[in-house]
Amino acid sequence: MAQLIGGLATSHIPAIGKALAKGLQQEPYWKPFFDGFPPIHQWLAGKKPDVLVVFYNDHGLNFFLDKMPTFAVGAAAEYSNADEGWGIPTLPSTPGCPELSWHLINSLIADEFDIVTCQEMLVDHACSLPFKLFWPQHEVAPVQIVPININTVQFPLPTTKRVYKLGQAVGRAIQSWGSDKKVMVLASGGLSHQLEGERAGHINKKFDLQFMESLVSNPEWATQFSDLELVEKAGTQGVELLMWLAMRAALTHAGSGVRKVHGNYYLPISNTATGVLALEVQE
Ligand code: DHB
Ligand code: FE
Repeated sequence: MAQLIGGLATSHIPAIGKALAKGLQQEPYWKPFFDGFPPIHQWLAGKKPDVLVVFYNDHGLNFFLDKMPTFAVGAAAEYSNADEGWGIPTLPSTPGCPELSWHLINSLIADEFDIVTCQEMLVDHACSLPFKLFWPQHEVAPVQIVPININTVQFPLPTTKRVYKLGQAVGRAIQSWGSDKKVMVLASGGLSHQLEGERAGHINKKFDLQFMESLVSNPEWATQFSDLELVEKAGTQGVELLMWLAMRAALTHAGSGVRKVHGNYYLPISNTATGVLALEVQE
């Protein structure tokens, strides 16, 4: 069976794409953010995952307000990046893993998740930037991917409890995949931020740090909050932390538990409190 070996999480912000393109990683504004990654690069170089299941939220590129799936799973052989309007340089396409996609789709439907299946799927900065952050030396990250889109753009959002169950179902599916591949789960989004309205610029450091800590010691902690409570605490776009919750839930039945490899929290980058985290599944 496939091995589920760990989880990764990072914030995604279009400005990161510009900083990468211009090589600004050592500039004072960017250094504390990019300094969160080298310990994880080292760990990944040893672990060498073959496939990544990527929980991310589309921002109006592949899905728009007229048709908004709550959960959508990619089943393409390749995923092309495109710009949904920020003007950041487009990143190279990433190879898919149709075999795991279809195994996941069959498992999730059998588990009563009525997902949308996407045999074509454009991916925006949320899906593509993490590859450049976690594998900066590679033109294309040395992994195949299965993107899973969770709606955080248009209400009603899926509940925290439902997202947690989705993550658990994805974790079970990965571990029942008849393959010798090493799989990791990745979350892209958060942490607290709000881009519009009266509270534009809202950031909640106390909540973010509690949330990051909960993923190590008490993964179900965030499932106590409703979607509106999450908005209140983390901001209208901070609800992207649902991706982190799904990633962590996927690891609940892998091995004997998880070990925190490395984490970093830094704010602000653009309007966002940024976090990065790597979790290793223990034997
Ligand atoms: C910003 C953050 C996001 O999560 C996003 O999708 C777009 C912009 C920002 O802080 O600029
Ligand atoms: Fe976002």
